[in-house]
Amino acid sequence: MAWFARNILLLCLLAFSVTACDALARVRVLITNEMSEYQGRPNVTITLHCRSRDDDLGVHQIPYLEKYEFSFHPSVVKNTVFECGVKWDGDCHSFVAYNKNRDRHKCRVCLWKIKPEAACMYNYGTKTYDCPEWGDWCQSSKVKCIA
Ligand SMILES: *[C@@H]1O[C@H](CO)[C@@H](O)[C@H](O)[C@H]1NC(C)=O
Repeated sequence: MAWFARNILLLCLLAFSVTACDALARVRVLITNEMSEYQGRPNVTITLHCRSRDDDLGVHQIPYLEKYEFSFHPSVVKNTVFECGVKWDGDCHSFVAYNKNRDRHKCRVCLWKIKPEAACMYNYGTKTYDCPEWGDWCQSSKVKCIA
C-alpha cells in the first residue's frame, strides 16, 4: 500500500510538473491597429484597455499601424482570460485577447489585428486570421469600457 501510494504521488508530481512547465511559459499578445479608414476618416487611433480578473493593464492610445503588446504567465491551476475593450470615435467593442482554455495550444505569441468590423486573431494552423464576433464587455455593467 505504501509503495502504491508513493508511486501515485510520483505520478501526480510528474503530471503536475508537466502541466506547470506548459503553463508557466510566458505568453505574449500583440495587437496591431489596422484601422486604415472608418466612416471616411483615415488612420484612426484606437484606445485599448485590457484586463484579466487580477491585472488591469491600463488605457493605451494606439495610432494606426502601431502595436500594443503585453505578456504574462498563464495560471497553472485556473483559467487565465484577458479581455480588451477597444474604442474609437463613439464606438466601443471588446474581444477576448487570450483565454487559456481556448488558446493554450494555439499560440505562445498571439497576434491580433483591429479592424473596424472585427478583431482578428492569427491562426497558425491555417495561416489566416480568424475574426470572432465582438464581445459585450463594453455593455457589461460590471466593467465599463473606460478607454
Ligand atoms: C495614413 O498612414 C499611412 C501609412 O502610415 C501614410 O502613408 C498616410 O500618409 C497616412 N494618411 C493620412 C491622411 O494621414
